[in-house]
Amino acid sequence: MIETIIARDLGTPPPLNPNMEFVTLTIDGERVTVAAGTSVMRAAAESGTNIPKLCATDSLEPFGSCRLCLVEIEGRRGYPASCTTPVEEGMVVRTQTSKLQELRKGVMELYISDHPLDCLTCPANGNCELQDMAGVTGLREVRYGYEGANHLKLKKDESNPYFTFDSSKCIVCNRCVRACEETQGTFALTISGRGFESRVSAGQSESFMESECVSCGACVEACPTATLQEKSVIWMGQAEHKVTTTCAYCGVGCSLDAEMKGSEVVRMVPTKNGKANEGHACVKGRFAWGYATHKDRILKPMIRSKITDPWKEVSWDEALDYAASEFKRIQAKYGQDSIGGIVSSRCTNEEGYLVQKLVRAAFGNNNVDTCARVCHSPTGYGLKQTLGESAGTQTFASVAKSDVIMVIGANPTDGHPVFASRMKRRIRQGAKLIVIDPRRIDLVKSPHIRSQYHLQLRPGTNVAMVSSLAHVIVTEGLLAEQFIAERCDDRAFNQWRDFVAQESNSPEAMESVTGVPAEQVRGAARLFATGGNGAIFYGLGVTEHAQGSTTVMGIANLAMATGNVGREGVGVNPLRGQNNVQGSCDIGSFPHELPGYRHVSDTTVRMQFEAAWGVELQAEPGLRIPNMFEAALDGSFKGLYCQGEDIVQSDPNTQHVISAMEAMECIVVQDIFLNETAKYAHVLLPGSSFLEKDGTFTNAERRISRVRKVMAPKAGYADWEVTVQLSNRLGYPMNYKHPSEIMDEIARLTPTFSGVSYAKLEKLGSIQWPCNDAAPEGTPTMHIDHFVRGKGRFIITQYVPTDEKVTRMYPLILTTGRILSQYNVGAQTRRTENVKWHAEDRLEIHPHDAEERGIKDDQWVGIQSRAGETVLRALVTERMQPGVVYTTFHFPESGANVITTENSDWATNCPEYKVTAVQVMPVQQQSDWQQEFARFHEEQMALKDAATAQPA
Ligand code: SF4
Ligand code: SF4
Ligand code: SF4
Ligand code: FES
Repeated sequence: MIETIIARDLGTPPPLNPNMEFVTLTIDGERVTVAAGTSVMRAAAESGTNIPKLCATDSLEPFGSCRLCLVEIEGRRGYPASCTTPVEEGMVVRTQTSKLQELRKGVMELYISDHPLDCLTCPANGNCELQDMAGVTGLREVRYGYEGANHLKLKKDESNPYFTFDSSKCIVCNRCVRACEETQGTFALTISGRGFESRVSAGQSESFMESECVSCGACVEACPTATLQEKSVIWMGQAEHKVTTTCAYCGVGCSLDAEMKGSEVVRMVPTKNGKANEGHACVKGRFAWGYATHKDRILKPMIRSKITDPWKEVSWDEALDYAASEFKRIQAKYGQDSIGGIVSSRCTNEEGYLVQKLVRAAFGNNNVDTCARVCHSPTGYGLKQTLGESAGTQTFASVAKSDVIMVIGANPTDGHPVFASRMKRRIRQGAKLIVIDPRRIDLVKSPHIRSQYHLQLRPGTNVAMVSSLAHVIVTEGLLAEQFIAERCDDRAFNQWRDFVAQESNSPEAMESVTGVPAEQVRGAARLFATGGNGAIFYGLGVTEHAQGSTTVMGIANLAMATGNVGREGVGVNPLRGQNNVQGSCDIGSFPHELPGYRHVSDTTVRMQFEAAWGVELQAEPGLRIPNMFEAALDGSFKGLYCQGEDIVQSDPNTQHVISAMEAMECIVVQDIFLNETAKYAHVLLPGSSFLEKDGTFTNAERRISRVRKVMAPKAGYADWEVTVQLSNRLGYPMNYKHPSEIMDEIARLTPTFSGVSYAKLEKLGSIQWPCNDAAPEGTPTMHIDHFVRGKGRFIITQYVPTDEKVTRMYPLILTTGRILSQYNVGAQTRRTENVKWHAEDRLEIHPHDAEERGIKDDQWVGIQSRAGETVLRALVTERMQPGVVYTTFHFPESGANVITTENSDWATNCPEYKVTAVQVMPVQQQSDWQQEFARFHEEQMALKDAATAQPA
């Protein structure tokens, strides 16, 4: 492996040294000054001297087991291990003496005598620390021979689809065990046995797949030998160059190094200095990238005039001409507002910006929306109203300074795993945890983690919960009076205080609503208000409700009331679902907002865009996604450009969405696969994966990071290039040569982005907006001295029960969520080995509810709501509370959204996915909808296969 790929390893982590005290010592005759608390090993490395090592690595705390890093220190007896010895003022260290050389050789001899000497054919050849150390120590012979007791015949564990465990190569350095504990926080590995018998094992001597392992790969990366090795490396060999890019799955936005051989990815390695992830990744980002080269990729544009027609493969020119002519025809016949577009939160900022520009400037209307509509639109609304900016307030790293962590309606270990690892690290260090969730998520109790409070509320009662938490804080005198007096609007605060203080908002009064014992709510409120730095993290369990926006405002109220905004360790932190959901909102993909969250009715702002874009813009907001469906059914909305979103699978009430699709005359889908929406499309434009384009994503911390092209677009164009060509055909010229020019335009027109450029991203690695003259390198923490809106605004949060009521007919509440190994509609992860963990969606049900209905584990159950019916296999589990059932929605045939209703958030129309009244009963066969789905799927696949089989 060439040098550029290997990140330098300084042996031990930097010291936690808030006082910035320094120490000067002498290493091999050179004076060296380092931060107090630094290890001798790291001090030497910082000054350019690499001390041999095996059990130490700078991502893990030192362990001191291999004895290879011995040094001599004047005035000390023996040979201390440099990895576990901290520097001291005036210390004199020697790292290279003949005695040390002899000792190190002796250590290496022992290792090598129990190691298969198959270096030439070993997958780690060229990237093996044991091999390197044999070279560094000058090992030339093994005096003990290779015939004694050894572990060379131990069997390989190949159970994990992505890596192997070859115990015969293990040197028992413990790095994997520590990585699993310290970096990942899963504690799946142990060293069993003692002395010569000691071996690494997963779980209780199980295979990796049977154990608690979540396949994050941290152990694989930490392993200095080929014991733990990626199967892709075993198959392809070592990479020869790398390109740093950003994960395209969740809103954590991990920085990843794509290690490449030519244009083929050999493996993904989390970037060591990536600020969102600091060298960690999860099973999706690290391993689940095979979808990018999956055989199902759509590689040729296709058109058809009716969805019952076979697809016809055509050239890009023909497909784009056809799409443009259809949009023009529809507008001529039905009016300018009869078409619209959908921006993808999976695509880059630059691509999203172009789609909204195309809609506003080329279509000439504001009918543009994004999938954030169905996830975090209430976050945008609620935080803008209270704090003044539609975004989270902190960096992920800030959680390291939190004393009390409140997690509401989020399941970070599954949804945001790399952030969950950070959070768990802080909890293991002593931070307290409050979980507010209807389901017993892993964070409630897992190895070395236990929540102080789990407020297991009924779905749909979040507002009652946040108001009763606030009631305790107000009535028990726990308010941050000074913060409120200095930073918040008096009048709004007084009104809010009087409101929450009402007896009707007390935990006792709300107990019958939330189902949570009042004493627990009181305890949690006291802990949050008095426990030090309090940080709130929330997810779709907050937003996807009829009162989603109200809960977001209630969360902001709680943070202001306790003074927990404007410094590290605190804040209001929405955990964004998709990789670029923050970015797609920032760049103007909502129908009422131009880039930077500025209302289309604001004449000054509109004039700026009109001048820059050379067109007149509409001053009225356009249609939201659900309104597009309504308008399609009314006959006034006939054409849609849908880039990288699968609305048929992901939007609620599938039958309703399908009727709307069928009512349109031209649906243009741009995607990497023929997804559920594409089955209703008339033009299918091949999309490009994140590996095939340049651009940027913005994660949940407002961090803008580069996406870099590692291979040419498989179908010829990156997504932004396709939008450019479509716009040109519609008569609105776009002339971008590179996404950096699009970012330059965003920066020119958006005050919060004015300091952003690709050159600066190159220099800084990533930038958290706002980035402008006032904050040229970005803004890690927002609202420091004052809120963006000036004074923080408390808003009254009156609990209004949802219309979705349980009845005798529908006595259970269904709520939904994600699982670690799969991602949203599953289009990508279902096309990877991740299906080995989760090959179908299951219905989780409490044993009591299951028994009442005669339901056994694994049995097929029908789930019926007012909207529809589907069938899944049951998973009987005490994770659920009685009366509540749960499922994931990663497989289209599950039809989770066949049963969700059209109820939505009052302010933003975000669907109420988390509350659907259902009945559940044992059944023998799939639902009618599923049978029709299977038939339609077969039909559409046949129409696609017929087209792709045609000679070019
Ligand atoms: S892959 Fe991750 S979870 Fe599994 S054993 Fe390794 S470090 Fe632990
Ligand atoms: S598997 Fe690798 S990291 Fe773990 S103890 Fe063995 S050699 Fe060390
Ligand atoms: S945590 Fe999210 S961003 Fe990071 S690797 Fe996993 S899926 Fe990708
Ligand atoms: S590297 Fe220091 S004891 Fe192993």
